[in-house]
Formats: sequence, C-alpha cells, structure tokens
Amino acid sequence: MTDITVLGISGSLRAGSFNTALLRAARQLAPAGMTVELYEGLRDIPPYDGDTDTETPPEPVADLRRRISQADGVLFVTPEYNYSVPGVLKNAIDWASRPAGHSSLTHKPVAIMGASPGNFGAVRAQLALRQSFVWINARMVVQPEVMVFKAGERFDEHGTLTDTTTAALVRKLLDALATTIHTPAP
Ligand code: FNR
Repeated sequence: MTDITVLGISGSLRAGSFNTALLRAARQLAPAGMTVELYEGLRDIPPYDGDTDTETPPEPVADLRRRISQADGVLFVTPEYNYSVPGVLKNAIDWASRPAGHSSLTHKPVAIMGASPGNFGAVRAQLALRQSFVWINARMVVQPEVMVFKAGERFDEHGTLTDTTTAALVRKLLDALATTIHTPAP
C-alpha cells in the first residue's frame, strides 16, 4: 500500500493539554506507512467572517485548507467544553468547511477522538463533531469511538500516554482511518 499522511488537529491550545498529548501518542502509534503530522496553527485562525471568506482568505485559513487538502486524512482530537466542541476548533472547522460541498473537508477521510479528566472522555463533544461532519459530507470513521475518560490517570507527568488499553484503541482508530483512506470513495 502507498504511504499516507494524516493531519492531526487538537482542539486545545493549552501546553499541558491531554488532547494534544493524545495526538502526540497517535503520532507514535501510527501503523506502518502512515505519518501523523501535528497542526499547530489553530491559535492563528481568525474568527469566521463571511466577508473575508473570499478567493483570498486570511493566510492562516488558506494554510489550514491547503494542509487538509494535501493530507490523505484528518484526525481531530477534541476536548469537551460545556458539552460541546471548543470554539477555537469549531471555528477552524467552519472555515475549512467552506465553500459548502467543495471544501477541503468534503469527502475527506476523518477520524475523531477526545479526552477529558472526567468520566465521559469528551463523548458529547465528539458527537457534536460527528454531526458537523455529516453536514460537511466528510468520510467519517464511525468506529471505534475513542473516549479517553479519567485522562489524568492515563498520562505521566510529561504527557506521555501510559495506558495500554487507550494505546490499543488509538491504534484501532488509526487502522480504521487507514482503511477508509485506502478504500476508493463511492
Ligand atoms: C471544561 N471541561 C469540561 N469537561 C467535560 O467533561 N465536560 C464539559 O462540558 C466541560 N466543560 C468545560 C468548559 C470549559 C470552558 C473548560 C475550560 C473546561 C473540562 C475539560 O474537559 C478539561 O479542562 C480538559 O483538560 C480540557 O482538555 P485539554 O486542554 O486537557 O486537552
């Protein structure tokens, strides 16, 4: 099989983020032939503005769209804020989703996972994200669902994933994403 590149986007800007730590773990756990690149431009994406969503959008937006287009798939790692997707991540997805029906995310293979220190592993945020990808018509991996609950118990003080059950689940998700990427779009 040909080598594939996955763009990993964490929805947290925090240096000590569990979700970014989970994304770093995914980079290490990627199957042979898959490279996971970390997107680090989220902080630079301006608030969505239809008036600047023109043929020449703000450069950080153009860069995001370019990077999504160039990747074979996208791995979103979302925290949960108030039972939903953090505004910074939703904002970036809103930009990336335009123009509707022809965006960088349309028909793009995408996978989702999330972490929280609480008992639910960002499940409600992940479901909200799934809804967005239905409208966007991305090729979304449905299973496995990776809900990393009690995240504080699964990483060491350096943000390294130590929990083998979580590592196995992340591997399964990446395998499923690879399968979606390698399956021709209908
Ligand atoms: C939270 N947190 C949170 N947790 C949760 O399980 N459900 C929720 O609805 C919320 N809501 C929420 C709102 C806001 C504004 C903040 C700042 C936090 C807690 C959240 O899961 C926790 O801060 C995580 O550690 C955030 O992810 P990162 O930054 O560690 O990746």
